[in-house]
Amino acid sequence: MSQPDRYAVLGNPIAHSKSPLIHRLFAEQTQQVMRYEALCLPLDGFVSGIQALHQQGYRGMNVTVPFKFEAFAACESVSERAQLAGAVNTLIRTDSGWQGENTDGAGLVADLTRLVGSLAGKRLLMLGAGGAASGVVKPLLDAKVDQLTIANRTAQKAIDLAQRAAQGRVNGCGFDVVPNQPYDIIINATAASLAGDLPPLKAGWFADAGCLAYDMMYGKEPTVFMQAAQELGAEQQADGLGMLVEQAAEAFYLWRGIRPQTEPVRLVLAE
Ligand code: ATR
Repeated sequence: MSQPDRYAVLGNPIAHSKSPLIHRLFAEQTQQVMRYEALCLPLDGFVSGIQALHQQGYRGMNVTVPFKFEAFAACESVSERAQLAGAVNTLIRTDSGWQGENTDGAGLVADLTRLVGSLAGKRLLMLGAGGAASGVVKPLLDAKVDQLTIANRTAQKAIDLAQRAAQGRVNGCGFDVVPNQPYDIIINATAASLAGDLPPLKAGWFADAGCLAYDMMYGKEPTVFMQAAQELGAEQQADGLGMLVEQAAEAFYLWRGIRPQTEPVRLVLAE
């Protein structure tokens, strides 16, 4: 019997990663002979780690905190969407090294589309302008959203991110000057909830029927952002578990050429 193709997720820490379970379920569903493990690399050992894994014949890797920027710099080549994100979350083996990809934005767009249908013409407000936010701007614009307002505690970072997108439909600003109008989708891409904190939210943003409040974070319970959005009147709230599964599916497709079904896997993880 042939040896399974080998894959891994690289991070530090990594013990709680859901990626091995997600990819095992994808592999079972699509009958792929592969093995996927979680590897904790030393903080100063990312580059030597991926070189060693290349020599050992690994076919692909997912990359998570804190290595997404280092991965971008270490790849032999990067795709356009990774270039625009400035970060890499997926490595694909080539004969001589690693090709860098970023599937986070595609994952977010797929999950938002599951929740509200086509994003075309939608008004979006994104809170945060760090690594998580910058990876998803271009895919959101490609999904033909009508407006994208990026608001950040440090206003200049939101202004810079909007300028890098270089399209008239994107505005960057500080939280205090976000236009007090209804949005169809409000995304929390800040790391505030890690500290049990919230960006300042205004009820007017959530006022439209069908408004979706989406947190890129996820947890066992609804996040603090989801709870606050519900109190402020958002009709629908979701956490980032669906995005996690969708970005994994996109990576799986890049490696194996087969698109797994995501819904059954999302339901297993939500249990
Ligand atoms: P990540 O990769 O998770 O995006 P990051 O690049 O460090 O991490 O970015 C963190 C984001 O969360 C930033 O937008 C940050 O705002 P600043 O740019 O002003 O630092 C935002 N953030 C972190 N803590 C926050 C808080 N308590 N309130 C509001 N925004 C916060």
